[in-house]
Amino acid sequence: MSAVSGLAQYLSLRGKNVFITGGGTGIGAAMVSAFVEQGAHVAFVDVAATESEALATQLRAQGGTVWWQHCDVRDVAALQQAIGDAQTALGDFSALVNNVARDDRHTLESVTPEYWDERMAVNQRPAFFAIQAVVPGMRRLGGGSVINLGSTGWQTKGSGYPCYAVAKSSVNGLTRGLADSLGADRIRVNTVSPGWVMTERQISMWLDAAGEAEIQRNQCLPDKLRPSDVARMVLFLASDDGAMCTAQEFKVDAGWS
Ligand SMILES: NC(=O)c1ccc[n+]([C@@H]2O[C@H](COP(=O)([O-])OP(=O)(O)OC[C@H]3O[C@@H](n4cnc5c(N)ncnc54)[C@H](O)[C@@H]3O)[C@@H](O)[C@H]2O)c1
Repeated sequence: MSAVSGLAQYLSLRGKNVFITGGGTGIGAAMVSAFVEQGAHVAFVDVAATESEALATQLRAQGGTVWWQHCDVRDVAALQQAIGDAQTALGDFSALVNNVARDDRHTLESVTPEYWDERMAVNQRPAFFAIQAVVPGMRRLGGGSVINLGSTGWQTKGSGYPCYAVAKSSVNGLTRGLADSLGADRIRVNTVSPGWVMTERQISMWLDAAGEAEIQRNQCLPDKLRPSDVARMVLFLASDDGAMCTAQEFKVDAGWS
């Protein structure tokens, strides 16, 4: 794949295998495209079949190596099986991006134990079990990079999604809780926390005039965040350029928080 912009090319990502959860749309899709553009071989899972297939077809037509499988990450066995299948197809993974999430709105009063468990099953649990599945391969490779997508939403007291806030706040705990033990094998673990990123879902569901005003009031930078802005940080952390960064949270929020 050739460079399509003046942005950095990471030679260390060429030919490397990367696994991404929720890669079919939004920030995940931007990361799939960004890694393919770097010459990495990308595997991803998603439940959005039409969008995922279209993305994979488009990137393969450009010469990219893309593997994808329909997988509902709430099913831990299915997620770990998909990682195993992808590993059989591509080889061990140098990088894992735990991206999948759903920021559905809910109130304190409406949450049942079943709803709580379901929110954790999509927003919290998959990251832990995906790490469990890729680490043996990273050890075989002599190292790796795990990037967990957090959020600045709970840090700026975002309301309307308390279960999502709980799950997202725990991402820093996952990163901090594993970085030391995995670091002995040169496996790095970091959190990347986006601010308010203009994915199609965010624009269609939540962005209104009040939201536009909020962005202008809270961000230091005037421009809206794009999915590709988050992908650029993830590329750095997956590459050898980020070799001595671990156990940290990196925010891409235009200075909001
Ligand atoms: N967009 C933002 O403003 C924003 C802000 C802060 C943090 N984040 C974080 O960034 C990451 C990506 O966010 P996004 O806005 O692109 O999300 P999104 O909802 O647009 O996309 C998430 C992807 O996950 C897939 N998915 C959802 N449930 C699934 C399931 N059960 N199994 C498999 N796939 C499933 C969706 O189909 C979609 O492709 C998330 O971790 C999110 O918490 C996003």
